[in-house]
Amino acid sequence: MYELYSGHIRPKTTCFSKHSSFSTLTQIHYLRGVNLTDEIHKRKTFAIISHPDAGKTTLTEKFLLFGGAIQTAGAVKSNKIKKAATSDFMEIEKQRGISVATSVMTFEYNGKLVNILDTPGHKDFAEDTYRTLTAVDSVILVIDCVKGVEEQTERLMEVCRMRNTPVIVFINKVDRDGRDPFDLLDELEQKLNIKVRPMSWPINGGRDFKGVYKLYDKSINFFEANKTKISKDVTRIDDLASDTLDELIGKQDADKLRQDVELIDGVFGDFNVEDYLKGEVAPVFFGSALNNFGVKELLEKFLEIAPFPLARNSSERLVNPEENKFSGFIFKIHANLDPRHRDRIAFLRVCSGKFERNKFFHHVRLNKDMKFASPFTFMADSKALLEDAFAGDVVGLYDTGNFKIGDTLTEGENFLFKGIPSFSPEIFKELINLDPMKSKQLEKGIEQLTDEGVAQLFRQEPGNRKYIGTVGELQFEVIQYRLENEYNAKCRFEPRAFFKACWMTGDKDAIAEFCKYRQKNIVKDKDENIVFLAETAWILNTAIQQNPKITFHTTSEFKV
Ligand code: G4P
Repeated sequence: MYELYSGHIRPKTTCFSKHSSFSTLTQIHYLRGVNLTDEIHKRKTFAIISHPDAGKTTLTEKFLLFGGAIQTAGAVKSNKIKKAATSDFMEIEKQRGISVATSVMTFEYNGKLVNILDTPGHKDFAEDTYRTLTAVDSVILVIDCVKGVEEQTERLMEVCRMRNTPVIVFINKVDRDGRDPFDLLDELEQKLNIKVRPMSWPINGGRDFKGVYKLYDKSINFFEANKTKISKDVTRIDDLASDTLDELIGKQDADKLRQDVELIDGVFGDFNVEDYLKGEVAPVFFGSALNNFGVKELLEKFLEIAPFPLARNSSERLVNPEENKFSGFIFKIHANLDPRHRDRIAFLRVCSGKFERNKFFHHVRLNKDMKFASPFTFMADSKALLEDAFAGDVVGLYDTGNFKIGDTLTEGENFLFKGIPSFSPEIFKELINLDPMKSKQLEKGIEQLTDEGVAQLFRQEPGNRKYIGTVGELQFEVIQYRLENEYNAKCRFEPRAFFKACWMTGDKDAIAEFCKYRQKNIVKDKDENIVFLAETAWILNTAIQQNPKITFHTTSEFKV
């Protein structure tokens, strides 16, 4: 279906057309005009998330191998930013540019159309990942069995928990001497604030690793280090007490497995798909992405239980994916820093109806109708043109500055999709203009860059001070460079020791009173919301305690 082309993935030439990025089969369907429900029910749009190095790229690649989207291992370009380059953001942008080509990877497997949304590996781009998570219907979380739950994983899971996104956990690298699986499950529950339910169970680990017992169908998958083959021998064990088990894995391991399974059944209870879909329980698989072990089971179970595109909340009403009228929102904007190609790419997640090329759609915020002559998918080097797309799909739109993150497109109705919040930045700096003659350029530049989501802008009314908030230091370099090169404006940054940005809700008078006394810490975000910049955790806690009529939020949206 797909082939490797100049290091990128594209549909095989036999079915490659400038007008579709999908297989011939899918194309015919589209041409005949299909039932919207069928299209939606076959789509699974998700992200694989992990702390860098846990195995996200390797697992993505194995999924693509199963889906026939690539033919050889090593084809997926890792968007991991090489450690040596962390101080050179142009190098990072170059690498990010490569990853745009594989931002969304699509393949078909067992009649399902899978969209994997890639997320950046570098911590400084964490906000990109948070936003991508607003565009998916579920998530696979990869954990390194040696390292367990790492810091970045906790943050990412917080975002998933906010939206009750269903999560499947893949505990990777079981071929290594890892931690005790029960300890890992404990840690998952405690640090990620979610109940877990093992679906498979490792028999030993590291050098003695023998395979996994699949609890849901009582079969053993024997381990064999193999980086390319995708089929595995599976032995059914209807009765764990039978001697066959001892013969297969030896008495000692058989007894251990019996004990473990008894404990699992006792402690974790039955797996209920509904609980998973509500985001309350995360099923857990053990495997080794590198050795292609446990990946097929994970993929098949994922396709069986993961949600297809569901209804989404908007400012006016719940929008059902099966509605005939199209709607969608922008969750990411990628700017090309190459001066020869200054194009911006807006990533549109389709939420309902059918997106069509060259059809007029309504840009709600700008109250303007727009049509798109060259929407595309991200599969190929040459970016394949796309004729139409359905709920769950991601469409790339060339943008000349019309979009900002969170913008909604509809077929005329006025509503905005919710659930694309800003998160409190971690680093704050004040933007200082170095050339008063270029104030207008600086204003315009910082406005546009923050629309793209490079960083967050907070304005303080008396004095028109501008504070920039980011997740990582890199963004400041990016802003400085881009302001100078694209807007001809010069600036510098002065660090400001703020700890958190807090959006406030509650009693209006209490908020007004609070703002009066905390004037030097009160700013407005881009949407004119009042934000309190707290200097320390202690100051924030005191403010919370002293102002019971105000609720302080570290995200800009409180109900999704
Ligand atoms: P990431 O995208 O989450 O950052 O991780 P990635 O897939 O790049 O994997 C990180 C490292 O872990 C890679 O090794 C990869 O080969 C290895 N790895 C992934 N899955 C497994 C597994 O199941 N078992 C073992 N033992 N290793 C695994 P590397 O040396 O950093 O890169 P490479 O030279 O192998 O590409």
